[in-house]
Amino acid sequence: MNDFIQASNQDGVTSIRFNRPEKKNAITADMYQSLADAIDGANADPDIRCILFLGNNGAFTAGNDIADFAQIAMSGGERTSMAVFEFLQRIIISQKPMVAGVDGMAIGVGTTMLLHCDHVIASQNASFLTPFVDLGLVPEAGSSLLAPRLIGHQRAFSLLAMGEKFTPQMAKDAGLVSLIVSSDDLETTATDAARAIASKPPEAMAITRTLVRGDRSDILSRMHEEAELFGQRLQSDEAKKAFMAFMSR
Ligand code: COA
Repeated sequence: MNDFIQASNQDGVTSIRFNRPEKKNAITADMYQSLADAIDGANADPDIRCILFLGNNGAFTAGNDIADFAQIAMSGGERTSMAVFEFLQRIIISQKPMVAGVDGMAIGVGTTMLLHCDHVIASQNASFLTPFVDLGLVPEAGSSLLAPRLIGHQRAFSLLAMGEKFTPQMAKDAGLVSLIVSSDDLETTATDAARAIASKPPEAMAITRTLVRGDRSDILSRMHEEAELFGQRLQSDEAKKAFMAFMSR
């Protein structure tokens, strides 16, 4: 397990924490692999009945590490070598319910991963931003399909195409967030929710979740389509320019 991702099991819950505070929990390839492994572990363990995602130090995650993006862009890397897609596939196919507790910024994949969670609790300091277009990129994680479904076309366009930052209230009004609490109460509330889910009859919970989430093959297929385009966009001049601008601030 990568030090920047902490995973622990308690009371039927696997808690997965982003732990790279000096970089606002930006996610590297190694971290994506650790996330994928932690989700696999939770799904393989019959004693685990819920997965909980948390950030730390007032940040959920600043999204993909832009230095990693730049490195892939400059080296002409293949999209298939990107660990991010290992992680995205796991959150799409996870059989266990997923809860997220978001304090502070949730950028890029930090927001799109929430579309796959079943219960999202935000602190009053949370913010949700997907600056894909500003980075010369396109949405990922099946978000181009799921976001319009969940929050409607116009709000999805504001979020994914216009790069509008959503406040906790906007996210709650849109149906992306279930509950808003203070930063002080965030972790306890999210942990209690995950434990409450884990304490319910597991078979009935699993069947209900499958019914509620529906068939995920279309989401997987969209994720692959987006990944192809994302890989192409990483090599674009627009993207390279944006990565260089960030890294030379
Ligand atoms: N990738 C790599 N490093 C990142 C990062 C990212 N996505 N987000 C933040 N960091 C790093 C910064 O470079 C900085 O590193 P340094 O101290 O070595 O210079 C450190 O984390 C702290 O970030 P900083 O920008 O100083 O903090 P801030 O509070 O002023 O701003 C953000 C925080 C997240 C708003 C800003 O860093 C940002 O816009 N990051 C990029 C987010 C993004 O576009 N993600 C990709 C989405 S697809």
